[in-house]
Amino acid sequence: MRLKDKVAIVTGAGSGMGAVIAETYAREGAKVAVLDIDESAARKVADGIGESAIAIRCDVAKKADIAAAIAATRKAFGKLDILVNNAGISHVNKTVMDIDEAEFDRVFAVNVKGVFLFSQAAVPEFRGNGGGVIVNIGSTAGLRPRPGLSAYNATKGAVHNLTRTLAVELAPDRIRVCAIAPVATETPLLPTFLGNAEGQREKFIATVPLGRLALPKDIANVALFLASDEAEFVTGNIVEVDGGRCV
Ligand SMILES: NC(=O)c1ccc[n+]([C@@H]2O[C@H](COP(=O)([O-])OP(=O)(O)OC[C@H]3O[C@@H](n4cnc5c(N)ncnc54)[C@H](O)[C@@H]3O)[C@@H](O)[C@H]2O)c1
Repeated sequence: MRLKDKVAIVTGAGSGMGAVIAETYAREGAKVAVLDIDESAARKVADGIGESAIAIRCDVAKKADIAAAIAATRKAFGKLDILVNNAGISHVNKTVMDIDEAEFDRVFAVNVKGVFLFSQAAVPEFRGNGGGVIVNIGSTAGLRPRPGLSAYNATKGAVHNLTRTLAVELAPDRIRVCAIAPVATETPLLPTFLGNAEGQREKFIATVPLGRLALPKDIANVALFLASDEAEFVTGNIVEVDGGRCV
């Protein structure tokens, strides 16, 4: 049990890698608040986990939703040790000229403002506890950007920089802040990244030295290590989980 007696919030945990991170944390002894803008998806994941999980509807782009989710987590489990800022959206693969202002604003509101506001709201909880851990889900898109995802790629660059900034700023409070940069991962979001062109998936896989796409469990296993006390001297890292693609 690597997270025994810890309390975690995982945002966007109604689907994809967030769901598997929540399940992994619970399996390792944590109590988990499963947050999603889609309440029924969050409930399904929390019900699957059982007694050690609660489901909370939360739009991470809304400060009031974040405050309510933290209060509900504290009420249910008494404290907060770990925050996983996983909720994220993208736009379909298209040129910079085709991304309109509303689309740009929404992707930044969820992927960047959401991470900023949630981290900000968690700090007082962590300070009250003598420390804490934030794990942000960034992307290889923020390290090795490819064409067609300009707004999304920019959000992930911002997430990485915010991660490193908070790591140094919050270290005196014993709050560690790391990010994971997954390569294309087998989740419902994947088709947005790959586009619809024939053979695109195989072409992409051919660029990954380990020869496959990421699975949600690859990300969850790293999120488990980063949140655990085994990583007590690890902060400010952007950990690529990409089968070697960014080398
Ligand atoms: N799938 C990939 O290829 C890939 C690669 C690198 C990084 N990522 C990142 O991983 C994270 C998880 O993505 P995924 O692939 O599991 O996608 P997903 O679509 O399966 O899951 C994302 C979840 O976030 C929720 N969500 C969306 N907007 C929200 C909001 N405003 N507030 C709260 N919840 C919200 C969705 O309802 C969904 O349940 C994202 O940050 C994404 O950018 C994904």
